[in-house]
Amino acid sequence: MKKRILVSGGAGYIGSHVTVELIAAGYDVVVADNMSNCDRSCFDGVRQITGRSELPFVEMDFCDAAAVERLFSRYKIDAVIHFAAFKAVGESVAEPIKYYRNNLLSFLNVLEAARNHGGCNVLFSSSATVYGEADKLPVTEQSPRLPATSPYGNTKQICEDMLRDAIAADPSIRGIALRYFNPIGAHPSVLIGELPRGVPNNLVPFITQTAIGKRACLSIFGNDYPTPDGTCLRDYIDIVDLAQAHVCAVTRMVEGRMKEGYEIFNVGTGRPVSVAELVTEFEKVNGLKLNYKFADRRPGDVVAIWADTSRANEELGWKAKRTLAETLASAWAWEKHLAEQ
Ligand code: UD1
Repeated sequence: MKKRILVSGGAGYIGSHVTVELIAAGYDVVVADNMSNCDRSCFDGVRQITGRSELPFVEMDFCDAAAVERLFSRYKIDAVIHFAAFKAVGESVAEPIKYYRNNLLSFLNVLEAARNHGGCNVLFSSSATVYGEADKLPVTEQSPRLPATSPYGNTKQICEDMLRDAIAADPSIRGIALRYFNPIGAHPSVLIGELPRGVPNNLVPFITQTAIGKRACLSIFGNDYPTPDGTCLRDYIDIVDLAQAHVCAVTRMVEGRMKEGYEIFNVGTGRPVSVAELVTEFEKVNGLKLNYKFADRRPGDVVAIWADTSRANEELGWKAKRTLAETLASAWAWEKHLAEQ
């Protein structure tokens, strides 16, 4: 019997890539999304890549407890991967209540449905933002979580705690939190990728939009940080590598190979890259010149963070494979593909 995985927020940037990899690994997938921050085209892209024109899609809001309950009654779910959440840091500062309502309530409904249906494996999409400005680098899963600097970051911490506590009280629920570093790039088919709404907040969509001429100039926020070239250091991970980490984590859960009821894994490359290096590499790989300038630091940015990936390498048997060059080529291919639409 094939195992069935529910992917909440499965039409979004990460969810769509994860759905593709799950299907490639032989899972049945049900995608559910309220389409609040994605485009129908991404889900169509998933169907095209996988050749599954009948891939189940449920348009629904995970804040609607009755709808989540119905979903769990309709399908026998072996594991749920929960992506359905808002993710813009700045917006979360301006509209904290919106963020707390959406991100906490949707996950609460998932946990409640899991409990009501005799338990479930739950994979939560968390973020390296929980580490804040870490004292020691790279960060391991034991590194302390620091007080969140945004409501968005706080919802990631609270959801991790909700999962941990639900599992402690009910052994029929098991869960993994994956802490993502900076996911970038697009599927090699260029049928799915990131679709930022409005002005992008994240670096790589801003770079590709500048390169294509949608934006006049990239601002590099800060060049006086205590780093080798003065710009911030991050751990940029290819979206397909990241998606494959989900397959490894789900397989570990459904095959009953977890060592504890609740486990946490960093999902990064373990390689720090500065903003200036990333820009230079993007130019080199894609043979173009980017219009950029140095600007003031962005409030709330951490100076440097990258992952110790040993636990994911050893326990999940997963490792990021793609080079930064391949990933930046895929990001540019995706932007060019969008321009042709
Ligand atoms: C940000 C969020 C993080 C979230 C992640 C999701 C903050 C402080 N953190 O991470 O919580 O989980 O997105 O993807 O917002 N940069 C520029 N110019 C730009 C855009 C970015 O120089 O136009 C720099 C930033 O200063 C940073 C680096 O690029 O040094 C990466 O920025 P970004 O892509 O926004 O990711 P994070 O800030 O690491």
